[in-house]
Amino acid sequence: MELVSAMTQTNTTPPGGHAAVYDAFMWPFERAALGAWRRRLAARARGRVLEVGAGTGTQLRWYPAGAEVTALEPDPGMAARARRRAARAPATITVVEGVAEGLPFAAASFETALTSFSFCTVADPAAALRELRRVLIPGGRLLMLEHVHLPWQPGRRLQSWATPAWAAAAGGCRLDRDTGRSVREAGFSVLRERSHVLGWIVELEALSPAGLRPSSVSG
Ligand SMILES: C[S@@+](CC[C@H](N)C(=O)[O-])C[C@H]1O[C@@H](n2cnc3c(N)ncnc32)[C@H](O)[C@@H]1O
Repeated sequence: MELVSAMTQTNTTPPGGHAAVYDAFMWPFERAALGAWRRRLAARARGRVLEVGAGTGTQLRWYPAGAEVTALEPDPGMAARARRRAARAPATITVVEGVAEGLPFAAASFETALTSFSFCTVADPAAALRELRRVLIPGGRLLMLEHVHLPWQPGRRLQSWATPAWAAAAGGCRLDRDTGRSVREAGFSVLRERSHVLGWIVELEALSPAGLRPSSVSG
């Protein structure tokens, strides 16, 4: 796998230091529901898998034995925790530091890409999706578990109002991302979309366009 421009986009790299706080905050939600949704998502991964925004590696334990996973994470503190979790996981996992908007991989390197709760935080979702199209094989699978902008009012308006303060407090996490729409606008075909918590969290499976040569989708 060719490594290109790994950490050149330092402007999109969030500050580190909140890895332990993140794990403590997420623990009850993981136990209550997220673990089951993560497991279902990981079970759909095929071939070489790229996870983007792996954080502390909460998703890593759910990949089945035999899976070959590259986990990308820009925050060194998060990546260090993810490496420890990778070592204990049943799958073969390599943790790489880098950002979604400039993936350090050659075109068509992966059959599957997976994101969980990272598209709320990536600085430029459209650029990240262009990069995912580039590094996926044509017809490759995109699996996402993301919290999104609610489809109903007044929830949607409340999220828009709360986003600046929440993003400042929570490492850039935005409550107002229309990730499903961004995925469609990026040219992916959505096969499945399942909503949880009144539409706040979506589980999504999409395919990158088949029949396009990787070199023609980089722009
Ligand atoms: C809310 S955490 C989610 C972590 C993990 N995927 C999970 O499910 O718990 C968001 C992660 O996205 C990462 N991130 C932020 N900006 C990114 C970018 N531009 N490219 C890739 N990852 C990014 C953050 O460092 C953080 O680890």
